[in-house]
Amino acid sequence: MPDPFAFDLAATDGDARAGVWSTPHGDVRTPAFMPVGTAGSVKGVMPEQLAAIGSSQILANTYHLALRPGADVITDLGGLHAVMSWEGPILTDSGGFQVFSLADLATMTEEGVRFVSHVDGSKLFMRPEDSVDIQAKLGADVMMCLDECPPLPCEPAKMADAVDRTTRWATRCRDRWNELDRLTAGGDPQALFGILQGGVDPAMRARSAEGLLPLDFPGYAIGGLSVGEAPAEMYRTLEATTPLLPREKPRYLMGVGTPADLVNAVMRGVDLFDCVMPTRNGRNGSVFTSGGVLKIKNAVHARDTAPIDAACDCPACRRGGAGAFSRGTLRHLFLAGEMLAPILLSLHNLRFYHRLLADLRAAIERGEAEAFAAAELAKWGAGAN
Ligand code: GUN
Ligand code: ZN
Repeated sequence: MPDPFAFDLAATDGDARAGVWSTPHGDVRTPAFMPVGTAGSVKGVMPEQLAAIGSSQILANTYHLALRPGADVITDLGGLHAVMSWEGPILTDSGGFQVFSLADLATMTEEGVRFVSHVDGSKLFMRPEDSVDIQAKLGADVMMCLDECPPLPCEPAKMADAVDRTTRWATRCRDRWNELDRLTAGGDPQALFGILQGGVDPAMRARSAEGLLPLDFPGYAIGGLSVGEAPAEMYRTLEATTPLLPREKPRYLMGVGTPADLVNAVMRGVDLFDCVMPTRNGRNGSVFTSGGVLKIKNAVHARDTAPIDAACDCPACRRGGAGAFSRGTLRHLFLAGEMLAPILLSLHNLRFYHRLLADLRAAIERGEAEAFAAAELAKWGAGAN
């Protein structure tokens, strides 16, 4: 049987890669950005709008969906693709990271994570096997291993423990996934990705890679970044980490980041990203433009008839007929609490991210990635992060 998750490198330029990644729900042209649909929807955005602005794969969260409405309810509703009304690929994060940022009183033992639901206060326990079982019921194309992501800065001994536990848990996730693979024969295949931890220490990253690579996952994520370290430290860590990973498998940098982070990470060999930033910032009135970040609620935009970004082809900036939504109109809609405003800004920001990576991909194919990256980073200036 051909590999349903084959990853073909179409072009490379230095460490940057342009790939085509196959999934049972369609191909993803990398580098690619996944919009975040935490609880089963990308907030405020219709699936057909996502497709129209260039989203190919979206992300959802095991933690949120397991608490509400529950994995069995998702199964009874036809699985995550039906629930999200999304025909393309979906990836679910494993839940451990969200437990520590959202649940109350999370504690970790070798067996799993104990926590109190932020939804109804109930006491819950999630083992690596449970995370895989839940993700199997959700039915995304890609599931993630349960991992331990310590906040930075972190004592070396504590980091080594987290790396080793993440490896042991990855082994348990992989064993469970192998069993499920047999149990769900006939359904769509689901891939399981390993997650590297290790903070910003290259030796810890190497230790993590050493533990995970023998498990032969179909893809590898780099976790534990953008958790308090400076951008330059994250870039240095990526430089030390991506060469440790198999060339012929996708590399996913979790929860990152700004447009500058994406460009810097692609130049260091990363293929996939997710981040709440484009949608969350959009909902708060902050937009990315070819000239930097713009706060739409600022008074200077009150009578501004220009679109958010004249160079943008999103549904807010590029319209036929009556023309673009002006900055002045969008500011008014925001201040009036009109729901269209955060929707339009989310669409604009997502389109900005997708166009950036599509343009970068084209530059990689032309062998001009370095010049493209330098020009983009210069445009955004020091405020890019
Ligand atoms: N999202 C952002 N960072 C991480 C991480 O380190 N682990 C997991 N599971 N999800 C993440
Ligand atoms: Zn736009």
